[in-house]
Amino acid sequence: MNIPSADVQSKPVTVPGLRAMKQAGRKIVMLTAYDASFAARAEEGGVDVVLVGDSLGMVVQGHASTLPVTLDQAVYHTAAAARGLSRALLVADLPFMTDRDPGHALDAAHRLMAEGGAAMVKLEGAGHVCGVIEALVERNVPVCAHLGLTPQSVHRLGGYRVQGREAEVAQRILADARAVAAAGAALLVLEAIPAELAARITDELEIPTVGIGAGAGTDGQVLVVYDMLGITPGKRPKFARDFLAGRGSVPEAIAAYADEVRAGRFPGPEHQY
Ligand code: KIV
Repeated sequence: MNIPSADVQSKPVTVPGLRAMKQAGRKIVMLTAYDASFAARAEEGGVDVVLVGDSLGMVVQGHASTLPVTLDQAVYHTAAAARGLSRALLVADLPFMTDRDPGHALDAAHRLMAEGGAAMVKLEGAGHVCGVIEALVERNVPVCAHLGLTPQSVHRLGGYRVQGREAEVAQRILADARAVAAAGAALLVLEAIPAELAARITDELEIPTVGIGAGAGTDGQVLVVYDMLGITPGKRPKFARDFLAGRGSVPEAIAAYADEVRAGRFPGPEHQY
């Protein structure tokens, strides 16, 4: 059965609403989708935030990284996902290098919002990115930051590895989290970092955090839809669970994911670092 739990709000999810969810202690359920049908199923299943991630480069296009995804492709998939939604908040990734300076980021955000229908854009990292976040927020573009394992940095990082196990790196991620929040980010994705570090960032920041491989102490969870349906080829990442296993349909699997996140049953200790 794919009936979302009573905790799902019936009104459209808004950017200020995300902070209100944190303040109320209500978990934010986020899931990727790249087309109208999956976006509609995510929303029906009780997902609050649909992310058109540049993970589409890997799970849809079959590339080894997210780097080849173009802005045209991101706009195309965002517009498709938008047609499936009426309640969930739509977030779109800024593809590799479209956030290299404020001018390019503003142009890309313009297309993702005006043509794609996104309500928020996501970008990876801190450092120079903080200036980009400030420029976007100043022009009324809500921003989701992304720290920890940032897939667009895969070549610098040397692979898709957990980040922040060493004290020095953990301190840098904490400092970066403070910096992106101070720059005006309204949401922060924390990917593949120790659960303790993610919980500390979550406690300290006023903006909500959403984790993927970051333990249960964040304000919400996000997964790549193909990972949580067991479709992605190869070994499933440690932090993902196949919610379709043992269930009869995709809508049931998505509703189970949303319910388990809200109830604090996902992620479990076996999904964290
Ligand atoms: O691109 C993506 O799907 C993402 C999520 C893994 C957070 O960035």
